[in-house]
Amino acid sequence: MEKMQKKILFPRDAIKKRVEELAGRISADYKDRELIVIGILKGAFVFMADLIRAFSIPCRIDFVRVASYGAGTESSGRVVLTKDIETSIKGRDILIVEDIVDTGLTLAYLVNWLKERNPQSLKVCAFLDKRKRRKVAFEADYVGFTIDDGFVVGYGLDFNEQSRFLPEVYIIDQQQVDKK
Ligand code: IMP
Repeated sequence: MEKMQKKILFPRDAIKKRVEELAGRISADYKDRELIVIGILKGAFVFMADLIRAFSIPCRIDFVRVASYGAGTESSGRVVLTKDIETSIKGRDILIVEDIVDTGLTLAYLVNWLKERNPQSLKVCAFLDKRKRRKVAFEADYVGFTIDDGFVVGYGLDFNEQSRFLPEVYIIDQQQVDKK
């Protein structure tokens, strides 16, 4: 396996602190309610696991999986749902949890898809946000960190399925991204 050149962007303690802050805000916003938290596979599973364990409110969980067809690290705009939720969300409070918002295409698609099932409310929590790369207007309600352009891995995020297991977030050398 090729060794990846990478630099640390967010160490474990910074991630832990920020995740606890987000969980505190979400718990306060949904006080006395029961959230259904929907994670987007695969990338969001690490963040979601830490986030929900820092909640002081009850929640249920479910997952969706989407495929975004495109070359390398660019999404094409064609987002396809490959695994649907298994829970009824009609009349419920929903929080979608995503690893990173990039072009915004995945979340714009998913929010529309889930809104058609008439939840009482629907908000989005993204661990990372690359604001400058949007192709469609999309704002997450809760954001861990806003980052500049650049490809990141670790804490659930991958590059060609590598590095999801790393507990920190790293930025990888752009030349390696361009080579793929
Ligand atoms: P969007 O539809 O362009 O907003 O893409 C969101 C998806 O692209 C995320 O769920 C990730 O799977 C992937 N993605 C975008 N940027 C990165 C990155 O820097 N590292 C790893 N995955 C990324």
